[in-house]
Amino acid sequence: MSLPSVFNRYRSELERELGTAISTEAFPLHAMMRYHLGWEDEHGEPCQVHGGKHLRSVLCLAACEATGGDWHSALPAAAALELVHNFTLIHDDIQDNSVQRRHRPTVWSIWGIAHGINAGDGMWAAAQLELLRLQQHGVSSQKVVTASHALGETCLKLCEGQYLDMSFENSLDIDIDNYLSMIDRKTAQLFSCSLFLGALTGTDNQDLISKFACFGREIGMAFQIHDDVLGIWGDEENTGKSTYTDIRERKKTLPIVYTLQNAHGADKEKLVSLYSHAEVSTDDANQVLRVLDTVGAKKFTEEYRSRYCTQALKTLENMDISQHSMYQLRDVVTYMLQ
Ligand code: IPE
Ligand code: IPE
Ligand code: MG
Ligand code: MG
Repeated sequence: MSLPSVFNRYRSELERELGTAISTEAFPLHAMMRYHLGWEDEHGEPCQVHGGKHLRSVLCLAACEATGGDWHSALPAAAALELVHNFTLIHDDIQDNSVQRRHRPTVWSIWGIAHGINAGDGMWAAAQLELLRLQQHGVSSQKVVTASHALGETCLKLCEGQYLDMSFENSLDIDIDNYLSMIDRKTAQLFSCSLFLGALTGTDNQDLISKFACFGREIGMAFQIHDDVLGIWGDEENTGKSTYTDIRERKKTLPIVYTLQNAHGADKEKLVSLYSHAEVSTDDANQVLRVLDTVGAKKFTEEYRSRYCTQALKTLENMDISQHSMYQLRDVVTYMLQ
Protein backbone atom coordinates (compact mmCIF):
# COMPACT_ATOMS: atom_id res chain seq x y z
CA MET A 1 0.00 0.00 0.00
CA SER A 2 1.34 3.46 -0.85
CA LEU A 3 1.59 6.19 1.77
CA PRO A 4 -1.91 7.44 2.67
CA SER A 5 -2.40 11.02 1.43
CA VAL A 6 -2.91 12.34 4.94
CA PHE A 7 0.84 11.91 5.62
CA ASN A 8 1.70 14.25 2.76
CA ARG A 9 -0.95 16.74 3.79
CA TYR A 10 0.49 17.16 7.29
CA ARG A 11 4.18 16.67 6.43
CA SER A 12 5.56 20.17 5.83
CA GLU A 13 3.84 21.78 8.82
CA LEU A 14 4.78 18.90 11.07
CA GLU A 15 8.41 19.07 9.98
CA ARG A 16 8.42 22.82 10.55
CA GLU A 17 7.02 22.34 14.06
CA LEU A 18 9.62 19.67 14.83
CA GLY A 19 12.28 22.04 13.52
CA THR A 20 11.29 24.66 16.09
CA ALA A 21 11.41 22.09 18.91
CA ILE A 22 15.05 21.10 18.41
CA SER A 23 17.73 23.72 18.73
CA THR A 24 19.88 24.61 15.72
CA GLU A 25 22.85 25.31 18.03
CA ALA A 26 26.19 23.78 17.08
CA PHE A 27 26.40 22.43 20.66
CA PRO A 28 27.06 18.66 20.24
CA LEU A 29 24.06 17.52 22.32
CA HIS A 30 21.68 19.09 19.82
CA ALA A 31 23.72 17.77 16.88
CA MET A 32 23.23 14.21 18.17
CA MET A 33 19.48 14.80 18.29
CA ARG A 34 19.43 16.24 14.77
CA TYR A 35 21.43 13.24 13.59
CA HIS A 36 18.94 10.82 15.11
CA LEU A 37 16.03 12.64 13.48
CA GLY A 38 17.71 12.27 10.08
CA TRP A 39 18.42 15.97 9.51
CA GLU A 40 22.22 15.85 9.72
CA ASP A 41 25.01 13.36 9.23
CA GLU A 42 27.39 12.46 12.04
CA HIS A 43 29.65 15.42 11.19
CA GLY A 44 26.81 17.90 11.56
CA GLU A 45 26.35 18.37 7.81
CA PRO A 46 22.74 18.74 6.66
CA CYS A 47 21.30 15.68 4.96
CA GLN A 48 17.92 14.20 4.16
CA VAL A 49 17.52 10.60 5.15
CA HIS A 50 14.60 8.59 6.48
CA GLY A 51 13.82 10.01 9.92
CA GLY A 52 10.91 7.77 10.82
CA LYS A 53 7.33 7.31 9.62
CA HIS A 54 5.79 9.88 12.01
CA LEU A 55 2.93 7.47 12.74
CA ARG A 56 2.10 8.84 16.19
CA SER A 57 2.10 12.46 14.98
CA VAL A 58 -0.08 11.71 12.00
CA LEU A 59 -2.55 9.78 14.14
CA CYS A 60 -2.68 12.68 16.61
CA LEU A 61 -3.40 15.24 13.89
CA ALA A 62 -5.94 12.95 12.21
CA ALA A 63 -7.75 12.48 15.55
CA CYS A 64 -7.91 16.24 16.04
CA GLU A 65 -9.38 16.65 12.58
CA ALA A 66 -11.81 13.75 12.99
CA THR A 67 -13.21 15.24 16.18
CA GLY A 68 -13.95 18.54 14.46
CA GLY A 69 -10.82 20.48 15.41
CA ASP A 70 -8.34 22.41 13.28
CA TRP A 71 -5.37 20.03 13.03
CA HIS A 72 -2.94 22.96 13.10
CA SER A 73 -3.83 23.51 16.75
CA ALA A 74 -2.58 19.99 17.61
CA LEU A 75 0.82 20.41 15.93
CA PRO A 76 2.79 20.91 19.19
CA ALA A 77 1.22 17.73 20.61
CA ALA A 78 2.06 15.84 17.42
CA ALA A 79 5.66 17.06 17.53
CA ALA A 80 5.97 16.31 21.26
CA LEU A 81 4.76 12.74 20.66
CA GLU A 82 7.31 12.26 17.90
CA LEU A 83 10.07 13.51 20.21
CA VAL A 84 8.99 11.26 23.06
CA HIS A 85 8.96 8.34 20.63
CA ASN A 86 12.47 9.23 19.45
CA PHE A 87 13.76 9.67 23.00
CA THR A 88 12.65 6.09 23.68
CA LEU A 89 14.29 4.84 20.47
CA ILE A 90 17.65 6.42 21.33
CA HIS A 91 17.56 4.75 24.74
CA ASP A 92 16.06 1.52 23.38
CA ASP A 93 19.00 1.11 20.99
CA ILE A 94 21.34 1.25 23.98
CA GLN A 95 19.17 -1.13 25.99
CA ASP A 96 18.88 -3.58 23.08
CA ASN A 97 22.48 -3.28 21.99
CA SER A 98 21.26 -2.27 18.50
CA VAL A 99 23.88 -0.81 16.20
CA GLN A 100 21.57 0.11 13.35
CA ARG A 101 18.31 2.05 13.07
CA ARG A 102 16.65 3.50 9.97
CA HIS A 103 19.57 2.19 7.89
CA ARG A 104 22.11 4.23 9.87
CA PRO A 105 24.41 3.63 12.83
CA THR A 106 22.61 4.33 16.13
CA VAL A 107 23.50 7.37 18.23
CA TRP A 108 25.25 5.35 20.93
CA SER A 109 27.27 3.37 18.40
CA ILE A 110 28.78 6.66 17.14
CA TRP A 111 29.05 8.79 20.29
CA GLY A 112 29.08 6.09 22.98
CA ILE A 113 26.50 4.95 25.51
CA ALA A 114 26.90 7.82 27.97
CA HIS A 115 26.24 10.46 25.30
CA GLY A 116 23.41 8.34 23.89
CA ILE A 117 21.75 8.67 27.29
CA ASN A 118 22.32 12.44 27.15
CA ALA A 119 20.82 12.70 23.67
CA GLY A 120 17.73 10.72 24.72
CA ASP A 121 17.29 12.82 27.86
CA GLY A 122 17.63 16.00 25.80
CA MET A 123 14.97 14.79 23.40
CA TRP A 124 12.62 14.02 26.30
CA ALA A 125 13.10 17.52 27.70
CA ALA A 126 12.52 19.07 24.27
CA ALA A 127 9.24 17.13 24.05
CA GLN A 128 7.97 18.59 27.35
CA LEU A 129 8.77 22.13 26.21
CA GLU A 130 7.20 21.53 22.82
CA LEU A 131 3.92 20.35 24.36
CA LEU A 132 3.58 23.67 26.20
CA ARG A 133 3.45 25.43 22.83
CA LEU A 134 -0.14 24.13 22.54
CA GLN A 135 -1.11 27.29 24.40
CA GLN A 136 0.30 29.45 21.58
CA HIS A 137 -1.90 27.46 19.22
CA GLY A 138 -5.05 28.49 21.06
CA VAL A 139 -5.48 25.41 23.28
CA SER A 140 -6.81 26.28 26.77
CA SER A 141 -4.49 26.13 29.80
CA GLN A 142 -6.71 23.49 31.33
CA LYS A 143 -6.29 21.23 28.31
CA VAL A 144 -2.55 21.83 28.24
CA VAL A 145 -2.32 20.62 31.85
CA THR A 146 -4.42 17.55 30.98
CA ALA A 147 -2.17 16.88 27.97
CA SER A 148 1.00 17.26 30.02
CA HIS A 149 -0.35 14.91 32.67
CA ALA A 150 -1.27 12.31 30.03
CA LEU A 151 2.13 12.48 28.32
CA GLY A 152 3.97 12.23 31.65
CA GLU A 153 1.96 9.18 32.71
CA THR A 154 2.58 7.61 29.32
CA CYS A 155 6.35 8.12 29.64
CA LEU A 156 6.27 6.39 33.02
CA LYS A 157 4.34 3.44 31.58
CA LEU A 158 6.81 3.28 28.73
CA CYS A 159 9.72 3.02 31.15
CA GLU A 160 7.86 0.26 33.00
CA GLY A 161 7.41 -1.53 29.67
CA GLN A 162 11.09 -1.22 28.84
CA TYR A 163 11.91 -2.54 32.32
CA LEU A 164 9.73 -5.60 31.72
CA ASP A 165 11.06 -6.12 28.19
CA MET A 166 14.62 -6.20 29.50
CA SER A 167 13.92 -8.28 32.59
CA PHE A 168 12.13 -10.89 30.44
CA GLU A 169 15.44 -11.46 28.61
CA ASN A 170 16.61 -13.44 31.62
CA SER A 171 13.56 -15.62 32.04
CA LEU A 172 12.13 -18.50 30.04
CA ASP A 173 8.96 -18.49 32.07
CA ILE A 174 7.05 -15.72 30.32
CA ASP A 175 3.44 -16.32 29.29
CA ILE A 176 1.23 -14.46 26.84
CA ASP A 177 -0.37 -12.35 29.58
CA ASN A 178 3.08 -11.21 30.77
CA TYR A 179 3.95 -10.40 27.18
CA LEU A 180 0.75 -8.43 26.57
CA SER A 181 1.21 -6.38 29.70
CA MET A 182 4.78 -5.55 28.60
CA ILE A 183 3.88 -4.39 25.07
CA ASP A 184 0.87 -2.47 26.35
CA ARG A 185 3.27 -0.34 28.39
CA LYS A 186 6.25 -0.10 26.05
CA THR A 187 4.30 0.64 22.85
CA ALA A 188 0.51 0.71 22.99
CA GLN A 189 0.23 3.44 25.63
CA LEU A 190 2.05 5.96 23.44
CA PHE A 191 -0.31 5.23 20.56
CA SER A 192 -3.22 5.60 22.96
CA CYS A 193 -1.83 8.93 24.15
CA SER A 194 -1.35 10.09 20.54
CA LEU A 195 -5.02 9.63 19.71
CA PHE A 196 -6.02 11.00 23.11
CA LEU A 197 -4.06 14.24 22.65
CA GLY A 198 -5.38 14.73 19.13
CA ALA A 199 -8.98 14.21 20.22
CA LEU A 200 -8.47 16.38 23.31
CA THR A 201 -7.45 19.35 21.18
CA GLY A 202 -10.32 18.70 18.75
CA THR A 203 -13.32 18.29 21.06
CA ASP A 204 -14.73 18.51 24.60
CA ASN A 205 -16.70 15.29 24.12
CA GLN A 206 -15.15 13.05 26.83
CA ASP A 207 -16.78 9.89 25.51
CA LEU A 208 -15.33 10.43 22.05
CA ILE A 209 -11.89 11.27 23.50
CA SER A 210 -11.95 7.99 25.48
CA LYS A 211 -12.92 6.03 22.38
CA PHE A 212 -9.95 7.50 20.53
CA ALA A 213 -7.63 6.53 23.39
CA CYS A 214 -9.01 2.99 23.29
CA PHE A 215 -8.61 2.80 19.49
CA GLY A 216 -5.01 4.00 19.88
CA ARG A 217 -4.22 1.31 22.43
CA GLU A 218 -5.60 -1.43 20.18
CA ILE A 219 -3.66 -0.32 17.11
CA GLY A 220 -0.57 0.04 19.31
CA MET A 221 -0.88 -3.59 20.45
CA ALA A 222 -1.28 -4.72 16.85
CA PHE A 223 1.69 -2.58 15.80
CA GLN A 224 4.08 -4.07 18.37
CA ILE A 225 3.01 -7.61 17.45
CA HIS A 226 3.65 -6.68 13.81
CA ASP A 227 7.09 -5.36 14.81
CA ASP A 228 7.79 -8.69 16.53
CA VAL A 229 7.10 -10.49 13.23
CA LEU A 230 9.40 -8.11 11.36
CA GLY A 231 12.05 -8.54 14.07
CA ILE A 232 12.33 -12.22 13.13
CA TRP A 233 11.12 -12.60 9.55
CA GLY A 234 11.59 -9.06 8.18
CA ASP A 235 14.61 -8.27 6.08
CA GLU A 236 17.18 -5.64 6.92
CA GLU A 237 16.60 -3.73 3.71
CA ASN A 238 13.02 -2.99 4.70
CA THR A 239 13.30 -2.61 8.46
CA GLY A 240 16.57 -0.64 8.51
CA LYS A 241 17.53 -2.61 11.63
CA SER A 242 20.01 -5.47 11.95
CA THR A 243 18.36 -8.85 11.50
CA TYR A 244 18.06 -11.18 14.45
CA THR A 245 18.62 -8.44 17.07
CA ASP A 246 15.52 -9.65 18.95
CA ILE A 247 16.78 -13.24 18.99
CA ARG A 248 20.34 -12.27 19.86
CA GLU A 249 19.06 -10.26 22.81
CA ARG A 250 16.85 -13.20 23.83
CA LYS A 251 13.73 -11.03 23.57
CA LYS A 252 10.46 -12.65 24.59
CA THR A 253 8.56 -11.53 21.54
CA LEU A 254 5.22 -13.16 20.81
CA PRO A 255 6.51 -15.86 18.40
CA ILE A 256 9.08 -16.91 21.02
CA VAL A 257 6.63 -16.87 23.94
CA TYR A 258 4.17 -18.94 21.93
CA THR A 259 6.83 -21.45 20.92
CA LEU A 260 8.21 -21.79 24.44
CA GLN A 261 4.71 -22.73 25.53
CA ASN A 262 3.76 -24.95 22.61
CA ALA A 263 6.88 -26.79 21.45
CA HIS A 264 7.47 -30.21 22.98
CA GLY A 265 10.26 -32.72 23.45
CA ALA A 266 13.50 -32.17 21.56
CA ASP A 267 12.23 -28.97 19.85
CA LYS A 268 11.42 -27.33 23.14
CA GLU A 269 14.73 -28.44 24.67
CA LYS A 270 16.56 -27.01 21.71
CA LEU A 271 14.87 -23.60 22.00
CA VAL A 272 15.47 -23.46 25.75
CA SER A 273 19.11 -24.39 25.24
CA LEU A 274 19.64 -21.86 22.43
CA TYR A 275 17.93 -19.13 24.42
CA SER A 276 20.16 -19.92 27.41
CA HIS A 277 23.42 -19.24 25.54
CA ALA A 278 25.25 -16.13 26.71
CA GLU A 279 25.88 -15.28 23.05
CA VAL A 280 23.38 -16.23 20.35
CA SER A 281 25.23 -16.73 17.04
CA THR A 282 23.72 -16.45 13.56
CA ASP A 283 23.71 -20.23 13.38
CA ASP A 284 21.85 -20.39 16.72
CA ALA A 285 19.35 -17.84 15.41
CA ASN A 286 18.74 -19.95 12.30
CA GLN A 287 18.08 -22.93 14.53
CA VAL A 288 15.64 -20.90 16.63
CA LEU A 289 13.80 -20.08 13.41
CA ARG A 290 13.47 -23.75 12.56
CA VAL A 291 11.93 -24.50 15.97
CA LEU A 292 9.47 -21.60 15.52
CA ASP A 293 8.43 -23.18 12.22
CA THR A 294 7.58 -26.49 13.87
CA VAL A 295 4.71 -24.92 15.83
CA GLY A 296 3.58 -22.39 13.20
CA ALA A 297 4.65 -19.42 15.35
CA LYS A 298 4.50 -16.94 12.48
CA LYS A 299 0.91 -17.78 11.58
CA PHE A 300 -0.14 -17.67 15.23
CA THR A 301 1.48 -14.25 15.72
CA GLU A 302 -0.07 -12.81 12.56
CA GLU A 303 -3.49 -14.03 13.63
CA TYR A 304 -3.01 -12.49 17.06
CA ARG A 305 -2.11 -9.17 15.42
CA SER A 306 -5.23 -9.40 13.23
CA ARG A 307 -7.42 -9.83 16.29
CA TYR A 308 -6.24 -6.49 17.71
CA CYS A 309 -6.61 -4.90 14.32
CA THR A 310 -10.19 -6.13 13.94
CA GLN A 311 -11.00 -4.92 17.43
CA ALA A 312 -9.53 -1.49 16.64
CA LEU A 313 -11.56 -1.18 13.46
CA LYS A 314 -14.69 -2.05 15.45
CA THR A 315 -13.90 0.69 17.95
CA LEU A 316 -13.41 3.06 15.02
CA GLU A 317 -16.76 2.13 13.47
CA ASN A 318 -18.51 2.92 16.74
CA MET A 319 -17.25 6.49 16.79
CA ASP A 320 -19.45 9.39 15.94
CA ILE A 321 -17.19 10.85 13.23
CA SER A 322 -17.54 11.43 9.49
CA GLN A 323 -17.13 8.62 6.96
CA HIS A 324 -14.22 10.55 5.49
CA SER A 325 -12.35 10.62 8.83
CA MET A 326 -13.10 6.95 9.36
CA TYR A 327 -11.61 6.01 5.99
CA GLN A 328 -8.62 8.25 6.65
CA LEU A 329 -7.86 6.58 9.98
CA ARG A 330 -8.49 3.12 8.57
CA ASP A 331 -5.94 3.81 5.81
CA VAL A 332 -3.32 4.81 8.37
CA VAL A 333 -3.95 1.57 10.30
CA THR A 334 -3.66 -0.53 7.13
CA TYR A 335 -0.43 1.25 6.22
CA MET A 336 1.19 0.80 9.62
CA LEU A 337 0.40 -2.91 9.73
CA GLN A 338 1.44 -3.82 6.22
C1 IPE B 1 9.49 1.51 16.21
O1 IPE B 1 8.44 2.37 15.90
C2 IPE B 1 9.38 1.10 17.64
C3 IPE B 1 8.19 0.31 17.95
C4 IPE B 1 7.31 0.70 18.81
C5 IPE B 1 8.00 -0.98 17.35
P1 IPE B 1 8.24 2.99 14.44
O2 IPE B 1 8.28 1.90 13.42
O3 IPE B 1 7.04 3.85 14.45
O4 IPE B 1 9.55 3.87 14.28
P2 IPE B 1 9.93 4.97 13.18
O5 IPE B 1 9.87 6.29 13.90
O6 IPE B 1 8.98 4.91 12.04
O7 IPE B 1 11.33 4.63 12.79
C1 IPE C 1 9.76 -0.75 20.94
O1 IPE C 1 10.82 -1.50 21.29
C2 IPE C 1 9.31 0.10 22.10
C3 IPE C 1 10.18 1.20 22.46
C4 IPE C 1 11.15 1.66 21.74
C5 IPE C 1 9.93 1.82 23.72
P1 IPE C 1 11.55 -2.52 20.30
O2 IPE C 1 12.87 -2.79 20.88
O3 IPE C 1 10.67 -3.66 19.99
O4 IPE C 1 11.68 -1.63 18.99
P2 IPE C 1 12.68 -1.78 17.78
O5 IPE C 1 12.33 -3.11 17.17
O6 IPE C 1 14.06 -1.73 18.33
O7 IPE C 1 12.35 -0.63 16.89
MG1 MG D 1 13.49 -2.77 22.89
MG1 MG E 1 14.88 -2.32 19.97
